[in-house]
Amino acid sequence: VSSHLPLNVAIEPALDGLGDEWSSMVFPAHRPLLALAGTGRPDAKASRYLARCARVGHEPIGLALAELSANPRDAAEILSVYVAAPLRNGGIATRLLQELEQDLVRAGAPRIVGVYMTGKPAIRAVERVFAKCGFDAPVRRTIAVRFTPEEPSRCVWYQKARMPDGATIFAWNELTAGEREWLQTSPRASWIHPELQPWRFDEGFDPVSSVGMRKDGEVVGWAVNHVIAPGLVRFTVASMRPDLAARGASFPLYVASLQRLQGTGVMCTFVTAALFPPMNRFILRRVCPFVTFCGETRVVSKRLGHAADAGSHA
Ligand SMILES: CC(C)(COP(=O)(O)OP(=O)(O)OC[C@H]1O[C@@H](n2cnc3c(N)ncnc32)[C@H](O)[C@@H]1OP(=O)(O)O)[C@@H](O)C(=O)NCCC(=O)NCCS
Repeated sequence: VSSHLPLNVAIEPALDGLGDEWSSMVFPAHRPLLALAGTGRPDAKASRYLARCARVGHEPIGLALAELSANPRDAAEILSVYVAAPLRNGGIATRLLQELEQDLVRAGAPRIVGVYMTGKPAIRAVERVFAKCGFDAPVRRTIAVRFTPEEPSRCVWYQKARMPDGATIFAWNELTAGEREWLQTSPRASWIHPELQPWRFDEGFDPVSSVGMRKDGEVVGWAVNHVIAPGLVRFTVASMRPDLAARGASFPLYVASLQRLQGTGVMCTFVTAALFPPMNRFILRRVCPFVTFCGETRVVSKRLGHAADAGSHA
């Protein structure tokens, strides 16, 4: 890999935190981490942060930021890589990442991962940079879609959705305390996947669009949503008893939830869970053609050269 940087570019590790002059180079959510970069001080989740900075003279022109988890067996994560637009395609991001990788090796990280979302113009360049740095080819992890509540009504599954016999839809805020306890304790509710337990997502759910389904006196499914920004509803978690899901009973649940949002002017977002690949296929084939935005989150990873690292992989 070429290491011919423009002569006046200097790349150095952050040693004692980074100031506001670097904040435009990371996502807003990562800005509070800049002050910790290179200090060895942990944040609330006990992670530490390392960064490599590129400057021309005193002027910041590029930054790569990584998170080192408190668990030494976990992969370090590249949180962001950025180079000022006029200086792109000169190898600066590649050098930032290579040098940050050396810092992470010294810190003992067994592996590095990078997670990013497609749909932005820079993705080709980002993937090229990771490839040049020896990362494995990108792997799709989740699919994120953004849609108006009206758009899915053009999907075949929406039009074909039928309620199972004897089933009714109810507003999730009408779930009774008894039903809630039954879901948490009854052997008849043991089909609920731990990642999809609705009570884990109860806090602050959207009372308008969060719905459940009852059948024969039991709660058999739910779609629990949250308003995550003004005018933006996230479809957070949905689940259906497997025998009913196999007969398409999830669809009338989604339809009921969407209908409650139609005409309100909100946008919706949904990110598939990494654990359930069939959902990725469904969203790609049956939803993406009809919606405003469809993007993938992709993961790249690279094993770092430590004798102690026997075999963990993404
Ligand atoms: C992605 C980014 C960091 C790359 O920085 P950079 O300093 O230009 O990267 P490098 O010069 O080291 O490498 C860029 C590579 O991508 C290639 N590239 C650029 N645009 C490309 C495109 N549209 N298609 C294919 N390859 C492309 C370049 O040719 C170069 O590869 P090469 O050396 O084989 O020619 C920079 O474009 C950026 O800051 N983008 C905006 C921020 C962003 O999206 N960051 C990532 C999200 S965390």
